[in-house]
Amino acid sequence: MKKIIILLLFLFILIDKVYFIHSFENQNENENENQYQDQIKNQKNNSFTNSDYWLERYLLKSSNPSNKSNFGNSVSISDDFIAVGSPYKTIGNSTSQGEVNIFKFNGTNWNNYQTIIASDGESNDLFGFSVDLYNNYLVIGAYEADVGNNTDQGKAYIFRNNGTQWNQEAILIASDGEAYGRFGFSVGIYNNSVIIGSFSPTLYENHIKNSAPNPNSNPKEKAYIFRNNGTQWNQEAILTSKDPQGSLFGYSVDIYENYSVVGEYGATVGSNMYQGKCYVFKFNGTNWNYDQVLFADDGNSYEEFGFSVSIYGDYIVSGAIYAKVYEIYSQGKAYIFYNNGTSWNQNCTLIASEGDEDEDFGNSVDIDQDNIIVGAYFADANDNSQQGKAYTYTRNGSEWIETGILIASDGESGDTFGTSVSISNDFAVIGAPKTNFDNLTFAGKAYIFEKLLIPDKVIIVNCTPLFSEFECCWEKKNLIYEKFQIKYDQEWINVGYQIEDTSTVCENFDGFFYPNITGNEFYSIQIRSCNLTYEICGEPSDKLNLTTQVDTVQDLNFISSTYYINISWTHPDVPIINSIPKLDHYMILYYLENDPSNISNISISNSSNSYILNGLKPVSNYSITIYGCISLECEGKDQGENITNTVTTSPGLIDNLECYVYNISNVNCTWTKSEYNQTTNYLVIYQSNLLDDFGNFTVIDISTNFTVKYSNMNYSISVSACDEYSNCGLENTEYISTNPLKAPSIRGTIGGIEEISIIFSKVEYSEGYIISIDNGINWNNLSELIINENSCEGRQTNIEGNEEQSVCIRACSENTCNEIVSGITSECENVTAKLGYLKTFECNKIKNGFKCNWETDNLTSGLKNFSLSYDSQEICLSPNERSYQDTNLSGKEYTITIFESAGVNCSYSSYSGPSSSREVSTENSQSSSKSLSTGAVVGIVIAAIIVVIVTLIIVIRKKYYSRRRGYREVRLKGINEVSDDDSDGLY
Ligand SMILES: *[C@@H]1O[C@H](CO)[C@@H](O)[C@H](O)[C@H]1NC(C)=O
Ligand SMILES: *[C@@H]1O[C@H](CO)[C@@H](O)[C@H](O)[C@H]1NC(C)=O
Repeated sequence: MKKIIILLLFLFILIDKVYFIHSFENQNENENENQYQDQIKNQKNNSFTNSDYWLERYLLKSSNPSNKSNFGNSVSISDDFIAVGSPYKTIGNSTSQGEVNIFKFNGTNWNNYQTIIASDGESNDLFGFSVDLYNNYLVIGAYEADVGNNTDQGKAYIFRNNGTQWNQEAILIASDGEAYGRFGFSVGIYNNSVIIGSFSPTLYENHIKNSAPNPNSNPKEKAYIFRNNGTQWNQEAILTSKDPQGSLFGYSVDIYENYSVVGEYGATVGSNMYQGKCYVFKFNGTNWNYDQVLFADDGNSYEEFGFSVSIYGDYIVSGAIYAKVYEIYSQGKAYIFYNNGTSWNQNCTLIASEGDEDEDFGNSVDIDQDNIIVGAYFADANDNSQQGKAYTYTRNGSEWIETGILIASDGESGDTFGTSVSISNDFAVIGAPKTNFDNLTFAGKAYIFEKLLIPDKVIIVNCTPLFSEFECCWEKKNLIYEKFQIKYDQEWINVGYQIEDTSTVCENFDGFFYPNITGNEFYSIQIRSCNLTYEICGEPSDKLNLTTQVDTVQDLNFISSTYYINISWTHPDVPIINSIPKLDHYMILYYLENDPSNISNISISNSSNSYILNGLKPVSNYSITIYGCISLECEGKDQGENITNTVTTSPGLIDNLECYVYNISNVNCTWTKSEYNQTTNYLVIYQSNLLDDFGNFTVIDISTNFTVKYSNMNYSISVSACDEYSNCGLENTEYISTNPLKAPSIRGTIGGIEEISIIFSKVEYSEGYIISIDNGINWNNLSELIINENSCEGRQTNIEGNEEQSVCIRACSENTCNEIVSGITSECENVTAKLGYLKTFECNKIKNGFKCNWETDNLTSGLKNFSLSYDSQEICLSPNERSYQDTNLSGKEYTITIFESAGVNCSYSSYSGPSSSREVSTENSQSSSKSLSTGAVVGIVIAAIIVVIVTLIIVIRKKYYSRRRGYREVRLKGINEVSDDDSDGLY
């Protein structure tokens, strides 16, 4: 009776005009992707026993979830595509018309790709009740589609992927279809052939009532083969059972190459009603013929073998959902049949490792390559009734090993996870059409689990302790892993990727790359291999203990002298406890290189880090080895790593080095003879503290005189004793300062036109002089310098006229001076230069007069006004004026003279500049105009003679200044003849 109730219960779900009433509370789910990711993370742990691990990775939902659409009622995966059917989806106003969602894997994610509906879909077609994908073909069953006037005759649709989208390519209809034929209840596809089951639940219902098929009725259930001949899909065969009508042939179908298999779970085997069968058909190139009928060799009544079926290669798997397992009813089994070339033989029976009563293990099955998945959609999980589970199996030779129990991380009671299943080599897809979320009932989900390899336990071959490092080698078991990890009493750390294809991996762990590794330290090591992308690691190796050896001492340094070598070092890389390194002592071994048999050894406290080897031979090579030791002997395997150097003793220090400076930069040094009796000469090295005056030379004597470059500078002078092979000993150093140059004394200053001249005393040892015209603040080389026997004459141009300057002078020890190498500043003297020439001065005749324009140079800040005179008038113009005109003149010649003036009201002072004159012949507009009077001509001639004489005197007196600016002569053509005239006359 119980069987019957279960069957009835199942029937309700199957026919689905009435929804299964869930016993669980419909929680108000607030799902979001993060929560989901957190949940699936929680499933990770580090203790796996299987070599495969199926990790829940993706959750699929309809792009437009809706109430009671039963997304996940059917699923199929092939390559990068997954098809999920929602047969009860309302499309427009059509309830239960159904749709199929396509998802595509982009390498990291499964994304919604396309939603498919039938071109001619109608209400209650249940399009998507069954789906099967193979490469770029997708077959979809719509078993309640009406055909013409035939209610529920059923249709199947072929969709093809053209590379960018899936398009409907054909609608398959049974050639002999009838009402309620329910063609498309089950579908299968392989390459260009499909199989469609035509199964009528009405018949099933009748037989529940009648208990068994009527043995006298002819079979009415069928399966159809269609094949694409390259242009269209044609019906190729109609497959039928040999059992009477009502045996439910066609409830499940599948096809692979030349074999197709049709489940018939209502078949009677012997006297066992509903034990179930599978029919295998074989295509001989023309016809599909009966090949074999399969049934479970341990089958019982009402176990319903053939409820689900799948074929791949030489294997067929079929579920018997109500199979009894030991004394547990309706736990379910799946049977595997193997084709040995002549016949199909029962190969193995799959039983859920966590199976229980009424779980219906085997309600769905799929096989692909070496993977099988079996659904148990009524299994309880996490105390949730009928949440559902799926089991995965992997073939190992002739055995099929359970490799995963797949449970949805967010599952709830009544989800029926496992209603549909599909597997590929990397992914398993499981439909859960009765899941509720977002307040939607039976919106449905599908879950994708990814197959990952659990790395095997690592077997350490050996770990060798070295100096603050160790090397470990371990066996590499499975080749697929991402990284190894090592743990040495620490966190797990990653140690490199899979690279070499050898069976043993060796890795050197040295303290440089793994700073937690030091010398003379105990380590307990474990290694494991991991798939780090998913943080899945295999079982760690057994622990291996070792103690690293003492590392080499560091920063070894030697100071050698005549009879000793001072050795210093820093502690090796070992733990330092209370500033004492973790080792017993240091040991130094040393010997004369030409006498290696005569080794001396010295033990030194572990807290020391320097030692002086005494009583050595001068200028000899010593081999010196130092160890950090962790045994008293510091020999054999416990010794630390040694470091050996060859050090040569030196001829030693010279004594009593004394140096002094005489004059400005002459140096005298003396010292006493070196005690080393093979000294042949002495090396003298001198160097200034700031500038690059340095040099070295050897002397045989024990004194030397030499001259350094700079005055007023600090020098170091080092002297060391050397032998004939240029082995020199430690240097002895003296420091001296060279003397500053004396201050010159100023003997006179003269202010010239925008320049000053200075005469000053010559300073002994000097080679040059620099001048300051701002009271010693800034210093420059002189514009011109003449060094006489006892005095010097300098000239500095570009000096502002009519400005008092405080002029100072310094001597330098170099030709080109700068402040660093200069001596003491002289007393400063005040001097004022005169204003300069106008830069331009032009006068032109204009109507009834003339007009003059002029410009000054840049050094005119001392300018007070311009003094302009002509025709015995003197005009005083402000410093801003740059032109002057007079138009009240009669036609005659005028001489116009102008100069810059420093005086008040144009008065001529000693700081005024030299004048410039222009002659202008104004227009003779009136008949009364006349040329210059005789008296004027005589006056001009006399004036010109005076000017020539004065100029001559000046030229003679200024023989040193012949290159003065302003002595240019400019002659303009025409009436504007110009003669620049230096008429200062004051020098
Ligand atoms: C749905 O039904 C309504 C009312 O019967 C009708 O107006 C509307 O056009 C229908 N929509 C579709 C998509 O068939
Ligand atoms: C795959 O799709 C996801 C979104 O679902 C996206 O974040 C990711 O960048 C895609 N990867 C590639 C390789 O396109």
